[in-house]
Amino acid sequence: MRTISIMFPNVFCFVLVLVFIGCANGQAEQRLLNKLACIDNEECGACLSAAPHCRWCADPYYSSAAPRCNDDESLVQSGCSQGMIQRPALPVWEVVANNSLQDVLPDSLENVVQIQPQKLRISLKPRETRKVQFSYRPAKNYPLDLYYLMDLTWSMKDDKETLVTLGDDLSVTLKNLTDNFRLGFGSFADKPLMPFISMDAKRRANPCAMEEHQCEATYNYRHHLSLTDQVQEFIKNVNTSAVTANLDNAEGQLDALVQAIACGERVGWSTHSRKIVILLTDGSIHTAGDGKLAGATRKNDGECHLDDNGYYADSVIFDYPSIEQVYRLLDKHKVNVIFAVTDSVKSYYDNLHQLLEDFTYVAKLESDSSNILKLVKMGYEDIASVVDFEDDSSLGPVKIHYFTDCGVKGGSLMETTRCTGVEYGMTLNYEAHISLDSCPEYKKMTQTIRIAESQLGQDSLTVEVEIQCGCDCEGDLVKDMSLTCPTNSHLVCGVCQCNKGWSGPQCDCSIENEAASAALVAQCREPNATRSRVCSGAGECVCGKCDCDPGYSGRYCHCKACERSIENGVECGGVGRGTCICGQCACAEGWGGAACDCPDRTDSCVAPGSDLICSGHGECVCGKCQCSARKDADGIKYTGAFCETCATCENPLCMTAEPCVVCHLNSSCVDVCSIGPVNYTVSERLDGNELLKNGEISCILRRDKDGQECEYKYTYTAATSSLVAMEIVIRSVECYQPTGARLMTSGLVIMAIVVAAGLVVILAVKSGQIVSDRRAYAKFVKEAQESRRNMQMQEMNPLYISPISEFKMPEAYPRDKND
Ligand SMILES: *[C@@H]1O[C@H](CO)[C@@H](O)[C@H](O)[C@H]1NC(C)=O
Ligand SMILES: *[C@@H]1O[C@H](CO)[C@@H](O)[C@H](O)[C@H]1NC(C)=O
Ligand SMILES: *[C@@H]1O[C@H](CO)[C@@H](O)[C@H](O)[C@H]1NC(C)=O
Ligand SMILES: *[C@@H]1O[C@H](CO)[C@@H](O)[C@H](O)[C@H]1NC(C)=O
Ligand SMILES: *[C@@H]1O[C@H](CO)[C@@H](O)[C@H](O)[C@H]1NC(C)=O
Ligand SMILES: *[C@@H]1O[C@H](CO)[C@@H](O)[C@H](O)[C@H]1NC(C)=O
Repeated sequence: MRTISIMFPNVFCFVLVLVFIGCANGQAEQRLLNKLACIDNEECGACLSAAPHCRWCADPYYSSAAPRCNDDESLVQSGCSQGMIQRPALPVWEVVANNSLQDVLPDSLENVVQIQPQKLRISLKPRETRKVQFSYRPAKNYPLDLYYLMDLTWSMKDDKETLVTLGDDLSVTLKNLTDNFRLGFGSFADKPLMPFISMDAKRRANPCAMEEHQCEATYNYRHHLSLTDQVQEFIKNVNTSAVTANLDNAEGQLDALVQAIACGERVGWSTHSRKIVILLTDGSIHTAGDGKLAGATRKNDGECHLDDNGYYADSVIFDYPSIEQVYRLLDKHKVNVIFAVTDSVKSYYDNLHQLLEDFTYVAKLESDSSNILKLVKMGYEDIASVVDFEDDSSLGPVKIHYFTDCGVKGGSLMETTRCTGVEYGMTLNYEAHISLDSCPEYKKMTQTIRIAESQLGQDSLTVEVEIQCGCDCEGDLVKDMSLTCPTNSHLVCGVCQCNKGWSGPQCDCSIENEAASAALVAQCREPNATRSRVCSGAGECVCGKCDCDPGYSGRYCHCKACERSIENGVECGGVGRGTCICGQCACAEGWGGAACDCPDRTDSCVAPGSDLICSGHGECVCGKCQCSARKDADGIKYTGAFCETCATCENPLCMTAEPCVVCHLNSSCVDVCSIGPVNYTVSERLDGNELLKNGEISCILRRDKDGQECEYKYTYTAATSSLVAMEIVIRSVECYQPTGARLMTSGLVIMAIVVAAGLVVILAVKSGQIVSDRRAYAKFVKEAQESRRNMQMQEMNPLYISPISEFKMPEAYPRDKND
């Protein structure tokens, strides 16, 4: 939409912009930027949304060349009549209904209150976030509507008989869960169509003929008993219900489920109750498409089709429902389903549970249903222990983030909607951060948001958000006929605004007829800029107006988007911190940095109980400590949010926190303890798998507990609300035998190991010696034998001729007497 001034074109203010940016610097620059935040805007809504100090002159007789969007003072100076100055609407915060939490009273189920407050009216400006706190407490004795949906095919005959015998036990078990329960009963088999049943006339009339038993003709679903608090009535109905049979193992569970839920009036579901269907079966399911096989081709419509006798007769026309249809129906009516199934098909239902996770619970049914009561109790407790919130904010521009303590006393808030392990009597504190990024349109509007617990969907918190994007002058009618706007335009807040479908400075450019608008392209070039491109090359020229690409703004798309705060992701830190002016953030007092997310103050850098900035070991930069290294030692760096400790230092914050942890661990001590001006809260989150966040320091406390020595690791953080409150979270506990005993046992073990090792070594050496001696001896013996054998061999060789010649002197030969 394009606006034009009656008297003057708005070129003047652009000259002003250029001159101001050129000459301003430092603090003066910030002041001028603040002024510049306004003057570029040509519509009342855009003007008031630009910055908190911007005002709009809606005076139709305003004749000054000065811009209509400016600060209060400038507008009065340039002759705008006081009464016609549009100011931002005042913030709204109204608690419309805030009744206290209320458990169920015996005589009035209507007065139960589980969520507080119930209705708020607030306002939101663009880039603003508001925090709404609410509590949720599951009410004791909340009404329970329990509908038994039973597979009555032949194989479930014994299960039916078991249920009949339970009688009183059933009412005792349910009474233990809630005082206000009601029971209903329905049964199902399958569509009476081929091939699910036999078409033989005799078998059709009595499908149990094979078992030589009389039973009812096959039906798909039958509603027997509407929800009632008369347990005897329920038992009687189960007892009189007849068993039937079909051929295949898959049944029409989903058909029955859809009818039981969709026929709300027949079944008698109450608006204020937890609704549970317990579905007992031993067969798998037929889903959408299976019906086509039998000629039931019409798509399931998810509506109620019960006849006067409670039968789902149209089941022969409609196909089975799809899983997705069932999911939507469960979500719409907030019904939970407990699948009590036999072992043989349990894995099948586990897979189904993955698809219908929020609304189903699967439990193993003994083949004769003997554990059915335990199952009901477990299923109910599982369903009731989950609390989850949902809202319908996606229908409008408002966004919501949820934080909760999940009922942990004094615990810190985590960003989630879902809490598990909730018990009756616990109060869950929630904080909803409701925010508006930017105006979808510069118009006044309200968005009504319903925040409700998603399991029950009954109690809710309604937040009416007034979206402050427009002006009060929009509907004003001006009687003076001398004030005429060009054709195709009308007067809005003192200026002529083109009608829908028209654009251009004289509203003569039809948005449909773009060919005629070629002359207007020139207006999309920034005047007197050195290399002026159409819309600075970052947008499209439409009827003389730039349609900027995402991330660019300004009349000629010459402004880049401003930096977003790392902390909250909003441009220039959001309302109250800074304003985006053509790519630059103009920060409010007390804030600095490129995205106005650095507080000028340094108190967030001062550790509780200290008065030194960053414990004297660092600098406070942008509200956070940047720690230096130790001067004396070998350059070890100080760490912690306040540079309070280092690898070899004692941590003063651990020491001050320790008495509180000790107190917390002693049951005769209260949880909140204060040391000096600082309040400490201690909570435990022993999930173990939670890693320390970046920069988080953990402290260790060693204490005796039940004769064991325990090591508690805990972390501390400044509470979100203020620095004079600290939150301590115990993260892990490990216990050992006492040190003395441990030392002695470990000493003995070490000694034993040393002795054993010595023995092993000696044995090894000794046996090594023995082995090698034996080997050497054996070798020697072998060699000796071999050489002896060789010698014998040599003598026996027939070719061998001994080199020794032997001669014998005849004995008779006389010896020389001289020899
Ligand atoms: C609702 O009332 C309670 C006291 O009953 C108060 O503590 C709480 O702040 C009120 N809630 C709101 C939103 O004003
Ligand atoms: C009823 O509940 C209490 C505790 O909640 C339990 O101790 C008791 O055994 C339950 N009784 C039956 C019959 O389940
Ligand atoms: C169930 O019905 C049979 C007859 O059909 C009757 O004998 C029996 O007492 C009934 N059981 C209960 C618990 O009502
Ligand atoms: C553009 O600059 C010329 C001289 O450089 C000047 O005469 C003219 O007024 C300027 N136009 C605008 C719109 O600033
Ligand atoms: C718990 O605190 C009480 C007093 O506050 C003290 O007498 C007692 O010794 C403490 N118990 C332990 C185990 O420290
Ligand atoms: C500390 O706790 C006490 C009692 O709970 C309270 O009165 C006091 O205001 C708290 N101080 C701070 C700084 O929160």
